[in-house]
Amino acid sequence: MKKAAVMLKEVEKSFFNRRTKKIVLNRISFCAFQGEVTVLMGQSGCGKSTLFRILIGEEVPDSGSISILEQDVSPPHYKNIENAKKQFGILFQYGALFNSMNVGDNIAFPILEHQPQLHENIVNIMVETKLNQVEMQPEIYKEKMPSTLSGGERKRVALARALALDPKLIFCDEPSAGLDPIVSRTIDKLIQDLVRVLGIAALVVTHELDSAFSIADRMILLKRAVPEHQDKWEGAIVYEEGSPEELRNSKKPYTVEFLGEYSYYSLCPFCKAVQKKGYSTCYQCQKTRSGTGINC
Ligand SMILES: Nc1ncnc2c1ncn2[C@@H]1O[C@H](COP(=O)(O)OP(=O)(O)OP(=O)(O)O)[C@@H](O)[C@H]1O
Ligand SMILES: [Mg+2]
Repeated sequence: MKKAAVMLKEVEKSFFNRRTKKIVLNRISFCAFQGEVTVLMGQSGCGKSTLFRILIGEEVPDSGSISILEQDVSPPHYKNIENAKKQFGILFQYGALFNSMNVGDNIAFPILEHQPQLHENIVNIMVETKLNQVEMQPEIYKEKMPSTLSGGERKRVALARALALDPKLIFCDEPSAGLDPIVSRTIDKLIQDLVRVLGIAALVVTHELDSAFSIADRMILLKRAVPEHQDKWEGAIVYEEGSPEELRNSKKPYTVEFLGEYSYYSLCPFCKAVQKKGYSTCYQCQKTRSGTGINC
């Protein structure tokens, strides 16, 4: 049976703006399992970063329950997140390396923070192991300053730092943001390989579908209520979840719209009915696609 590394039940979060309550996360429930890459996706503004901040302990949810690596970090026990933090790593969107420290010291930082008594030689071995794990040669990179690295190299170092404490779980925020497609693919592959080899869990937030489909074992699609869709809820909900293949096969209109070319279905441009890709006449409005110039 699969073991949940992260489990959310009915998590809610609102922000107040001049006494007006704005619900951002509306009863969010899902699991991310050990040994899998779970990708959290959704349109801009749907609350991905808010959820990410809650999970890494930078924001407190209003209600609901959250368990991380079997520790209850729900609102009444939110302080437990400090304990959980020792067991998870975080890969921030732009790496968030300390520019005044060289690569080795950046990776050593979380190690020394948690185990200040460790001997320098041991820390050195740990740093080199982490660099090797992200396929960087320690003798070339250890002494380099972050400013001299390329975007992809910085991401690798940030990943090595996220792995520094041998976490059972890593949270990654937009891992391929700002990278060219080739480098972005190598980072995705690295995350996927690390999850397989180390048996850890990864929860990845992204809106880049290329990246999402190349790494996900499981996908969670959030949807923010929009007036045009006559959505009957406020804020964002988990609209659909499943394996990449299940989502590609989904006939739920927003999933089809969000996945675009990745979906096996398309929406009729006239009446928005869900159609099998390559249809010629819409089963609902009977209009034909030919001549619309729309590639369905
Ligand atoms: N501290 C805050 N105070 C008030 N509103 C906030 C705060 N943080 C986020 N929000 C609002 O919550 C909503 C979700 O924001 P969030 O940044 O989580 O979305 P996102 O899915 O990460 O978007 P993007 O893909 O553009 O990064 C937005 O409407 C945002 O304005
Ligand atoms: Mg965001």
